[in-house]
Amino acid sequence: MKKVAVIWSSPNKDGLTASAKSQFVSGLKEAGAEVTEIQLNKKKIDHCRACGDGWGTCRLNGACVIQDDFAEIYQTLAEADGIVWISAVYWSDMTEAFKAFFDRLRRCDAIKNHLLADKRCVLIACAGGTGRGTLECMTQFERGLTHMGMRVYDRISVVRYNAGYIVPALANAGRTYAETLETGFDMYY
Ligand SMILES: Cc1cc2nc3c(=O)[nH]c(=O)nc-3n(C[C@H](O)[C@H](O)[C@H](O)COP(=O)(O)O)c2cc1C
Repeated sequence: MKKVAVIWSSPNKDGLTASAKSQFVSGLKEAGAEVTEIQLNKKKIDHCRACGDGWGTCRLNGACVIQDDFAEIYQTLAEADGIVWISAVYWSDMTEAFKAFFDRLRRCDAIKNHLLADKRCVLIACAGGTGRGTLECMTQFERGLTHMGMRVYDRISVVRYNAGYIVPALANAGRTYAETLETGFDMYY
């Protein structure tokens, strides 16, 4: 059975991001995936202190000096076959909770551990205002994922104007992703 980690962030448990997440997860489960959901807003994640001379001790030992929920989430991602990243769009970017987590993840993984390299990912950005900024948000995500050697299998923009047809379609997207996780994306970049 494929293990898929779904890491998502919004403070709203019934918002656009949560409903997109739920639909995608329902498709993953239908396809038989073992799903671990991580709601970043419920976790304690401090921001990177850029310790030492700025490069941090993580450069040498691959671990962050801050004692919070970071290490446990990192391990869950490392054990997953695929990772789905879902964020509400704030200022055309990922949420603050995601930024704090992502910065530390990239330092540990891209520079030292390489535990996430080659993971096949899906990006989903949920913008509930004007709808602008989903592309910039996912571009930021993809830049970081690329630093860590991950590969993006799809990029899905959810806005309140397309939610009526995109959110229901996410169940099918989740199912297809789980079914084709091993073979569906063979491109390296
Ligand atoms: C600080 C802040 C910045 C936001 N920036 C954007 C934005 O750039 N584009 C957009 O369409 N909506 C923006 N929004 C609206 C959120 O994307 C909207 O609240 C969205 O529904 C969040 O997902 P949720 O329903 O899961 O909370 C912003 C909201 C906040 C609080």
